[in-house]
Amino acid sequence: MPQIEEIRIIAPDDSSESAPGIDDAAGRPGSHHVEIIYRYAPDLLPTDAEGSGIWRYRRLLPLEPGEIRYPLAVGGTPLMTAGRLGDALGLSHLYLKDEARGPSASNKDRATALVLETGIRRGQKVVTCASTGNVASSLAIGAAAAGLKAVIFVPRGTSPLKLQLMLAAGADVLEVAEGYSAAFDLSRLAAREFGWLDRNTGVNPLTTEAKKTVAFEIWEQLGRTMPDVVVAPVGDGPTIAALAKGFRELSLCGADGRLPRLIGVQSAGLDPLVRRLQDLPPLPRGEGGTVAEGIAVPDPVSAAVVLRDIRESHGTLLAVPDEDILKAAALLLARAGVSAEPAGAAALAGLVEAGRRGLVEAQERVVALVTGSGLKTPQYLLAERRPQAIHADLAELREVLQLRS
Ligand SMILES: Cc1ncc(COP(=O)(O)O)c(C=O)c1O
Repeated sequence: MPQIEEIRIIAPDDSSESAPGIDDAAGRPGSHHVEIIYRYAPDLLPTDAEGSGIWRYRRLLPLEPGEIRYPLAVGGTPLMTAGRLGDALGLSHLYLKDEARGPSASNKDRATALVLETGIRRGQKVVTCASTGNVASSLAIGAAAAGLKAVIFVPRGTSPLKLQLMLAAGADVLEVAEGYSAAFDLSRLAAREFGWLDRNTGVNPLTTEAKKTVAFEIWEQLGRTMPDVVVAPVGDGPTIAALAKGFRELSLCGADGRLPRLIGVQSAGLDPLVRRLQDLPPLPRGEGGTVAEGIAVPDPVSAAVVLRDIRESHGTLLAVPDEDILKAAALLLARAGVSAEPAGAAALAGLVEAGRRGLVEAQERVVALVTGSGLKTPQYLLAERRPQAIHADLAELREVLQLRS
């Protein structure tokens, strides 16, 4: 394990303090983001001989030496050149980091793996989280594979297929009437009360630590160079905060190049961090919403850290209408062959908007994160066309497709 210099607890109002240890930080009640700062050195970067997936970066993870016992393969997702999509957006070097390739088809699988690996090592039996759907699906599947019990708190209206996955994997699922933020608080309270492992995003620093490996992979996949711009959706914030941390750590370990500008994307229907960045008043409590359920978060846990990281990267936060998010999901499928749920396509919708505003240059190397698969949310796929009924007859086929004989 790399030497830890400081464990910092940052509250959404930007107040911060140091914690004596990871367990103390992760176990603090309430919403806050926990950040682990290491003594960085070049020999923490991976060599060619290192393992695969997120464990390849274990010298930059807070993990004691020893065999990895978590059974699912996580990380090592493809960075794809998206030429046809880039053409549509006027970008010559557009890449998609397809984070929907994990065991539960969302970017939550990395965090689940690291939290459960430590839980297995400590002999924990029960793990909990609150979730808008994907953290929960990921945890249910991961806990099933690892032999732990998952107790999951979701808001009403969670996508049916995600619920089915959780239940079929054997999790106890509790639907909290008061919504996601209340579910989050209840899950944390229950973890303390009953001694469960707390996998809640942002408050358990292992979640960000695992997610920062996305930045390490992008850097390696680009031939150990930094991209110019990275675009990601923002719900509670750990996804983008982890990207920022990952690129920062690479640099602190001696990697060359300027840190990328980060563009975070929220739905215009629920955009608390865009409002804060622009000094606009928050939406009244209980108002606002979006079809992009993964980013339907009224009080982001990692608010202060996201605002800090966005400013430091010289990037920005953008709000895009739901309609544009759904169009982006359709474009992803039609131009890149990637199926994304609305929150998973939000980065692309944000990139389209960034292009409109002149925030991205045509020649820049731009990476957009796809964070969740559309296969779990088929209800949102825009498909105006219908299949055409025909008989098994070549002449009819010729006629229907207007092919000449
Ligand atoms: C598909 C998808 N994208 C993005 C996010 C937002 O991630 P974060 O909460 O780390 O900002 C989520 C969170 O659940 C998600 O499910």
